[in-house]
Amino acid sequence: MTNLKPIDLRCELLAAPKGLNTPYPRFGWGLSAEGNGARQSAYEICVGDEEADVARGIGNYWQSGQTASSETLFITYAGNPLQSDLTLYWSVRVWDETSEPSAWSAPLSLMTGLMARSDWDAEWIARYFVLPAGREAPADDLYDNPWQARPADYLRREFDARGPVVRATAYVTALGLYELYLNGTRVGDEVMAPGWTDYHQRVIYQAHDVTDLIGAGQNAIGAIIGEGWYSGRVGHNQRRAGNHYGGRPALLCQLHLTYADGSVERVVTDPSWRTSRGPVCYSDFLMGEHYDARLDMPGWAIAGFDDTRWQPVEAFSPEPREPALSAAKSQPVREVARLDGRYLHRAKSGAAIFDFGQNFAGYVELTAQARRNDRFTLRHAEILDGDGELYMANLRHAVCVDHFTAAGTGSERFKPRFTFHGFRYLELTLPEGVVLDDFTVTGIAIQSDTPQSGQLETGNALVNQLISNIEWSQRGNFLSVPTDCPQRDERLGWSADAQVFWRTAGYNMDVAGFLAKWFDDITDAQLPDGAFTDIAPSRPLNPYKQSAQPGAPGWGDGPIIMAWQHYLRYGDAGLLSAVYPALQRWMTHIGGANPDFIRTQNVYNNYGDWLSVGPASDRTMVATAYWVLVADLMAKIATVLGKDSDHADYSGLAQDVRRAFRTAFVAEDGRISGDTQTAYLLALDFDLLPATQRASAAARLIDKLDAANGHLQTGFLGVKHLCPVLTNIGRADYAYRLLLNESYPSWGFSIQQGATTIWERWDGWTPERGFQSANMNSFNHYAYGAVGEWLYARMAGIDWEASAPGFRTIRMRPLFEREIGWVKAAYRAATGVVESAWRYDGDTIIWSIAVPPNCRAEIELADGPDNIAIDGLPLAISTSEHLFDQQTTRFALDSGRFTISISLPQGIAA
Ligand code: BGC
Repeated sequence: MTNLKPIDLRCELLAAPKGLNTPYPRFGWGLSAEGNGARQSAYEICVGDEEADVARGIGNYWQSGQTASSETLFITYAGNPLQSDLTLYWSVRVWDETSEPSAWSAPLSLMTGLMARSDWDAEWIARYFVLPAGREAPADDLYDNPWQARPADYLRREFDARGPVVRATAYVTALGLYELYLNGTRVGDEVMAPGWTDYHQRVIYQAHDVTDLIGAGQNAIGAIIGEGWYSGRVGHNQRRAGNHYGGRPALLCQLHLTYADGSVERVVTDPSWRTSRGPVCYSDFLMGEHYDARLDMPGWAIAGFDDTRWQPVEAFSPEPREPALSAAKSQPVREVARLDGRYLHRAKSGAAIFDFGQNFAGYVELTAQARRNDRFTLRHAEILDGDGELYMANLRHAVCVDHFTAAGTGSERFKPRFTFHGFRYLELTLPEGVVLDDFTVTGIAIQSDTPQSGQLETGNALVNQLISNIEWSQRGNFLSVPTDCPQRDERLGWSADAQVFWRTAGYNMDVAGFLAKWFDDITDAQLPDGAFTDIAPSRPLNPYKQSAQPGAPGWGDGPIIMAWQHYLRYGDAGLLSAVYPALQRWMTHIGGANPDFIRTQNVYNNYGDWLSVGPASDRTMVATAYWVLVADLMAKIATVLGKDSDHADYSGLAQDVRRAFRTAFVAEDGRISGDTQTAYLLALDFDLLPATQRASAAARLIDKLDAANGHLQTGFLGVKHLCPVLTNIGRADYAYRLLLNESYPSWGFSIQQGATTIWERWDGWTPERGFQSANMNSFNHYAYGAVGEWLYARMAGIDWEASAPGFRTIRMRPLFEREIGWVKAAYRAATGVVESAWRYDGDTIIWSIAVPPNCRAEIELADGPDNIAIDGLPLAISTSEHLFDQQTTRFALDSGRFTISISLPQGIAA
């Protein structure tokens, strides 16, 4: 039996999809093997509804048979089209070049979900009458709050199961947020479900296997629904206090009970359900939550609970139209980490201040011994001011305060359910007589549960902290959509922040499904004239124009850039072809308005190199540079999709804009309009200059860095290109210098000030000026974390190869640096696990790598072939050339584990 084996099985980009949007899903897996040179020569897939059979390779839905192929990334199901409401299992086995197949992989489940609207009998139900936003507070002071945020509605019904069920599946979603309960047990471990979409067009439903929660006889099903993105406060549109999508949170739920005789009974949301308010007096993303435990209703979701005083619900059709019901393409939002709260000191108010040691998105779990009516107030902030008090000014209109009123029933536990905050510090106002020992506080971090795919560690503490800050900023902002920040009254899916960070994001975590979901939001938000929007989902609307904000250059260009990166990282041409028409409409939107190939029209807010320091970059230059980039990418995408004439059109367009760019923005002496670091970075990285001018542009970039005393000045758009371009022009020394800088402006500066996430601004806080303007000063914005891609691709040397997408070929070009000391990196690619670890051993660099089976590594080392040995043997076959007066050696290695030693000329730092 070969030791080649399939790992990381996925179906439609997910390990175990709960609902499909196609009857022909695509399967994929990575490979692992001991020994070198293993290759897959064939595979066999089986799909069936009996897990035990599938585990033995017997599938009653599809049996592919032994299929000669080395393909592992996207194999499309070829059995009879899958029907709705199935729970299936699948497994795969592979052959290498020997005749023996691997063992069948452990079966993975996949739920087909309800693929057609006609599969749904359930009706949208909600409380009959909810208070319209912004009107007078209700008489009932228990629910009174200064923000007219609404109480969460409890809904329930009972049903009789006429016998034991062999399978029970709950399909559920909400306009707003929901928690589902069956016979008193919470269903699933998701939070903030169903997630954020444009609820006027699309709602994601979840599917849950609840077989173990249902018994014969009387059962009860219930749900709590909150406001969330649907009717709560979102973004900085204070003109409409919530209600961005609608005013009445609603539930849609359909439970399928399959009995032993194969018959299926459906229990659905309909007018027979009843509703009541409860202990969640209000819960709003920006305002916070008040939970009054005195209003608890023990047993409300258990059969036999007396709900006679509850009201009937209304079944209705959502306005302005019935949204499409989509199965989840991404991992749900889950609680992903628990952080202990360390008591610091008392605030002036006497409240107790706690530090969770990490800035994150989530909430606090409070467990307390308290008396009835005792009230705890929890205030949240990212940072403390000079007096050790919470600094909350940068939250703007976001209030971020939770309240818990105790029932006095002994040890009580409170954690919000329908709100979250971006914070590191907690200020807890305690009821009279409650002391520190009477309670505990735990920080709970939440995120879309995208699996970790990268590990990166170095011998340099500052760089390790930077790596951690980048990851935690991603963790804190990948929450159903990739947001700019998690703390203030914004938290929006800004597309430029995402596009500059996307390559980094994909190293840290598997974001394939996450992007597939967000692309639905992006195309749902695309305007009739083809404009992508600055943010997706595109509500809250621009407060001044009450319309979606069309995308500025760099922002609206984001979808093309991310689609292409998704293809390079995961080899997924499926997403490219699905979104291609939308991408084309954007290109037409730009092209149609700018006949002279200089991008001056349809640039909207044209933010340019947002939040750069030093001289500002020429925004039209930046916009036109991005036009060349997206035209180039569209030409490549057209080639992948076999659209040769489109390829010709887009290549031609790229040439035309490139020519116009040179005429308009590049002077004889190579100076580029604006003469900023970003100008040269974009010109070099987007290949905008004739070969003759590249060297002078490179030199000018170095001059600009020297003039800034070796410091960066780039904003959101320039930062991503800094280290990659400096490396590509043979100045990795400058890249490492920027990386290791600790004075302002630099990544290291914020770390020296105690940052545990990436700051929105280089000068978010400085000893000289204190805090930047509270109008816009987030301490958790991932855009500047875009340097992360260089840490993986160049410092560690694990990179994709565009000619063999999906990490079928891995480009390994590590940049050794004594200041870093050593690097240990692993990346779980779609094809398997890639490893790269280097360290110094005197005057020798020891570099160990692991290349997944079926893959090939293209190695490039800035050194002469004679100094290189593989597993102790001198390098046999290689090519070498002098690049930037440095000898560079290239060679290739097949899959396996290798130790490469590079002996440095005596006493040379390297
Ligand atoms: C957001 C950024 C965004 C920028 C565009 C800011 O308010 O926080 O993420 O890119 O606006 O202007």
